[in-house]
Amino acid sequence: MSVFEGKHILLGVTGSIAAYKAADIASKLTQAGAEVDVVLTEHARRFVTEVTFRAITRRPVLIDLFDEPEERQIAHIHLAKRADVLLIAPATANILAKLAVGLADDLLTTLALATQAKVVIAPAMNTVMWQHPATQHNVRILEERGALFVYPAEGMLACGDVGAGKLADTPTILSAVETALAPPLRGVRLLVTAGPTEEPVDAVRHLSNPSSGKMGYAIAQEAVRQGAEVTLVTGPTLLDPPAGARVVRVRSAQQMLDACLQVYDGVDVVIAAAAVSDYRPAEVWQGKRKKGEEEWTIRLVPNPDILRTLGERKGGRILVGFAAETHELLENAQKKLLEKNLDLIVANDVSQEGTGFRADTNRVTLLWASGRQEQLPLMSKREVARHLLQAVCDLLRAAKATKGASA
Ligand code: PMT
Repeated sequence: MSVFEGKHILLGVTGSIAAYKAADIASKLTQAGAEVDVVLTEHARRFVTEVTFRAITRRPVLIDLFDEPEERQIAHIHLAKRADVLLIAPATANILAKLAVGLADDLLTTLALATQAKVVIAPAMNTVMWQHPATQHNVRILEERGALFVYPAEGMLACGDVGAGKLADTPTILSAVETALAPPLRGVRLLVTAGPTEEPVDAVRHLSNPSSGKMGYAIAQEAVRQGAEVTLVTGPTLLDPPAGARVVRVRSAQQMLDACLQVYDGVDVVIAAAAVSDYRPAEVWQGKRKKGEEEWTIRLVPNPDILRTLGERKGGRILVGFAAETHELLENAQKKLLEKNLDLIVANDVSQEGTGFRADTNRVTLLWASGRQEQLPLMSKREVARHLLQAVCDLLRAAKATKGASA
């Protein structure tokens, strides 16, 4: 049975050139067994008509706040209570701003305030409008409140510009609605490490690496979206903390190990994306060491290997590591998979443009302990996170089946 069967979806359509694509979404949801009530804003009606949606959903289309299709029912309260998901697709910059401040000046915004259903938002707009700090701020506010965003795709926009702003495709939007209805990682406790570590040399200097935290934060954010209870242990980064995750900030490898061990008993899955410094200065200079003419030799000692330590006391947990390599990618990754007692390792070639450290995109190969391998093309770190979490779901399912069979 489809996850949509018998579910009540409120589909809000706002005034974007992409509004016509909402007809396909309504159609696919209806075909999958959902009861779809479409709400058009006044601006949406400039692009599409209610006739299309009425024919597709075989239900009245709602426009006015004071419409009452069912007698003795206050439409917006009744619909808001019945909804399993409120999907807004396409969502304009205007609706994002209204939702962020809690404005209720038409049926859709009033419904959004009155509902306790999960909200899924698929924005579509011009690239500059999407990237505007005001819009990004509103997205962040709504994510913090629990809204699930289907970020716009990149491509040629109706205005002729090329960039991010295209409404995501229907399968991606439907998959987000599915996630909202049945979060695949609900009940899973996940520990993610991210960012670099800093190993102090003196009061103003440290050893570190170029990790921005983007990869680990994308995993934490996507895992929250998929219903996991996420603890993010992060080295110093400039990123905003992922909405909905518990964030523990650390500086050095030793602090990262301590923070991980503190929560380890209560986690089911670990994903270690942090770039941990393998060495630290043996002695830390007190205060700032003054510049001089003479050479300064710093003796380095090995740091603890966090993931290996966790692997030694693995229990029934799923452990996932990354391997940042510049050569012999798969051989080195395979070695780390075995040495650290992992279920899965993400081999990350950090020597290429657009991959690894700091980039928004990544190119990785997944290597399972079972010997299976999957090479992924260059994609956004968010997409890498999605693939990885799909693999984690499969591992959890397999572990559960094995446990069930042996019980
Ligand atoms: O943060 P970004 O700018 O987005 O960049 C992403 C990334 C390149 C940092 C990320 O994709 C990545 O590859 N992370 C792993 C980096 C790394 O340290 O790899 P490694 O091959 O040295 O370590 C192997 C594994 O052991 C990693 O999971 C690492 O977190 C872990 N490790 C390593 C050393 C150590 N002392 N303790 C550890 O736990």
